[in-house]
Formats: sequence, structure tokens, C-alpha cells
Amino acid sequence: MRSIVPRLAFVIAAAFLVYAAWLRWPAGPPEWSETEVQELRSLWLESLPALPPQPSNAVADNPVAAEFGRLLFFDSRLSGNGGISCATCHQPERRFTDGLQKGQAIGTTDRHTPSIVGSAYSPWQFWDGRRDSLWAQALAPLEDANEHATDRTEVLKLIAADELYRTSYESLFGALPDTTGGDAIAVNTVFANVGKSIAAFERTVMPTAARFDDYVQAVVDGDVENQRKIFSVDEALGLRLFIGVANCTQCHNGPLFTNHEFHNTGVISFPGDAPDKARVAGVREVLLAEFNCLSAYSDDPERRCDELLFARKDVSLIGAFKTPSLRNLENTAPFMHKGQLATISEVLDHYNDAPAAMIGHNEAKPLGLNTQELRRLEAFLATLNAPLTQAGESPVR
Ligand code: HEC
Ligand code: HEC
Repeated sequence: MRSIVPRLAFVIAAAFLVYAAWLRWPAGPPEWSETEVQELRSLWLESLPALPPQPSNAVADNPVAAEFGRLLFFDSRLSGNGGISCATCHQPERRFTDGLQKGQAIGTTDRHTPSIVGSAYSPWQFWDGRRDSLWAQALAPLEDANEHATDRTEVLKLIAADELYRTSYESLFGALPDTTGGDAIAVNTVFANVGKSIAAFERTVMPTAARFDDYVQAVVDGDVENQRKIFSVDEALGLRLFIGVANCTQCHNGPLFTNHEFHNTGVISFPGDAPDKARVAGVREVLLAEFNCLSAYSDDPERRCDELLFARKDVSLIGAFKTPSLRNLENTAPFMHKGQLATISEVLDHYNDAPAAMIGHNEAKPLGLNTQELRRLEAFLATLNAPLTQAGESPVR
């Protein structure tokens, strides 16, 4: 009779190999191929281009307008009850979000408050892109009954009555109209100019370099020793998953980790909330909006509005939301358009399963990653957090 020992040894060795393969072991930090280095460069904050010009807003890059806009952003007098400002929901210390599932002011809004950091790069504002510029976007919450619940005439009156506001406004845009007269176009023009000033401030709110960006610097320099100092093995392997088999860069690409496009990723609504049609409704709304790139309130005599004119309208946009940035997820929980998912690990489980969408089709495919791979992806995402207090992100003086 042959001994059982070799067989046992074989079984143990085989089991060990399977386990090691499961752990992707032995796992050193990755060596990046030329293609991967190019991909990492494309995600680097150093690759962020200059802000796109905003010809529909003549004061977009005017520092006086940015300062005026900063004061307006934090001013709760711009509200029906005197207690709500943009910063009620877009709180600088939470990277301009509020920690709630759905934004809350005078009433509760339909969706989760997104960050405004870097939003000047997006051709579309709101989760469904129902506005086509920051200045047009800023006007919506002011008149929304659940948010500021004020109106354009009240806004005009406040600016006329506040000495500093009146001087700032008139130095930028010329004399204020009569606050009692019923000239709707004049009132609308002041309202649009308020939006343009707030937008000028928002254009100064930019992300700052994270540990990830130091890592890419080390990769670009070919400095392997520094790469090992900056990233743990798990973080580096998480990054490889992110740009590789997990396919995250299909949508979360470029230095802001967003393609600024709309996708259906099968995020389920809360019980009792109707499934959200999202972009398919948003694109209709932006075309009809009173304030948009084609409207009389644009400052661009040539009306260069290609984004708006050529906006996609097809059925793949049912249930499609704007891809959010993944920089600084640290202070922006809960996640997704209604804050449905409380933690990053819930988000990753969601992508791993890729459930069928409630309406439309989930574009993301199930990933089948194991627990360790999910943990590595999570470790990588945390390297995109950057200090809060650097220039541009600390606008409260
Ligand atoms: C009640 C809370 C609340 C207030 C007040 C508020 N917002 Fe928002 N903001 C939100 C929510 C919620 C969304 C997303 C709504 C949606 O997509 O349907 C949003 C979206 C935005 C966006 C779009 C960002 C993106 O990436 O799409 C910008 C920019 C913005 N708000 C700026 C402002 C400004 C400027 C003000 C003040 C004039 C303001 N918000 C007031 C809650 C608020
Ligand atoms: C098909 C495009 C697409 C792919 C692929 C994709 N995402 Fe997303 N991601 C989105 C969209 C769109 C949202 C917003 C969805 C919503 O709110 O319903 C989102 C939301 C998120 C959020 C929440 C951010 C926030 O502020 O709420 C995180 C985190 C995230 N994705 C990480 C990832 C990771 C990690 C991967 C790879 C495993 C990935 N995504 C793959 C498009 C995509």
C-alpha cells in the first residue's frame, strides 16, 4: 500500500497555491508599464488644464466679482426666512457638502448635496445637468421653495440697500435699476449678474494635491524608492485595480476623476421614492431654461453654445446621473444622488454586484472582486483626500 503522505502533501500544497492566488500573493508594489504611466499622468492634478473660458459670463474671472460672489455665497439674508445661505448646504468644512442624504434648508430637496469643488470644469450642473453653467445654476436654489425661498425682486432690494453690495455691483455692472419699477428684464438682468458673481467665486474653489498626486510624481520621475514611501503595497495595488480590471476609469477619469458625463449605474432609490429619470429629464429642462447659454442673459454675442446645442438626448440617459469627482470623498458621505450609500465600502459592494437598474440599464458590469481587492480599492480611494486648508478651499476669512 502506498503511503498517504505524498498525497496529503500534494493536497496541502494545492490548497496553499489556491489560497495564495486568491490573495494575489506574493504581492509587491506594481511596476507600471508605459501605457499605465500615461494613464496615471492623465489622472494627475498637474494635468488639470486651465479653466475653460465662460464667454456667457463676462465677469467669470474678475476678482472683484469673485469677492462679491463669495460674500453672497455666505449671506443668509438671501433667503425667505433670513437663515439660509448657499453655505447652509455647501459647507466649506465638509468640502462644500452637508453630511445629509438629501439637502435640507427651508424644506427638504429631492437629492443629495454635491460638492462644488472643481465644478467650474463641468459643462453641466446638478446631478441631472439641468443647468449649463455655474451662473445659471446659482439662480435656481435662490427661488426654490425648499432652499432659499426668496425671489429676484428681493435679491435686487437687498443689493440696493447694502452699501458694500451696491458699490460692488455698480462697479462691475453699472447702475442698479429702480427697485420699485416693474421692468422685468432689468430685474432679471440683476438676478443673472448675481449668479455670475457667485459663479466667479465658485471658479476659485479648486481641489488641492493629494498623496496620490505625489505618487504620480514619483512614477513620472521613475523613483521607485519614493513610490514605496508614498504608497503602501495595498494602495498601489488598489490603484492598479482602479485603472485596470475594476474599470473605474471608464467614467471616473481625468484629473478630477470624472468624465463630466451622465451614466446609469443602477443605484437603487429609497423605498417610497419614485425611480429618478435623471438626465433624460434634465436635458429637456436645460434646453427650456430661462437662464442658459442661448438666453438673452448670456454675455456672449456669438452665443457659442455647442455643448447645449449638441447635448445627447437618447434613451440611454434614462436614470443616468453626472459622474461625481472622487477627490476628497473623506468628508462627503453619504454617497450617490440621494445619499443612498453610507460608506465607501457600501459603494464598492454596489459596483461589485452591479444590480439591475430600476429604470433604464445599468452600464456597469459585476466585478466579482474578492474582499482583499475591495479593501485595496478602498485604500487607494483614501489617497485622493487632500488637506482642507490649502488655498482655494478655505474661502471663509
Ligand atoms: C438646501 C440645500 C442647498 C442650498 C441652500 C444650496 N444648494 Fe446647491 N445643491 C444642493 C443640492 C441638493 C444639489 C443637487 C440637486 C440636484 O442635482 O438635483 C445642489 C447642486 C449644486 C451645484 C451643482 C454641482 C454639481 O456638480 O452638479 C452647485 C454648483 C450648487 N449647488 C451651488 C449652490 C449655490 C451657489 C447656492 C446658493 C445660491 C446653493 N447651491 C444653495 C443643495 C443646496
Ligand atoms: C459607467 C460609469 C461608471 C463606472 C464604470 C464607475 N462609476 Fe462610480 N459613479 C458613476 C456615476 C454616474 C455615479 C453617480 C451615480 C448616482 O448617484 O446614482 C458614481 C458614483 C460613485 C461614487 C460616489 C461618489 C459621491 O460623491 O457620491 C464613488 C465613490 C464611485 N462612483 C466610485 C467608483 C469606483 C471605485 C468605480 C470602479 C469600481 C466606479 N465608480 C465605476 C459612474 C461610474
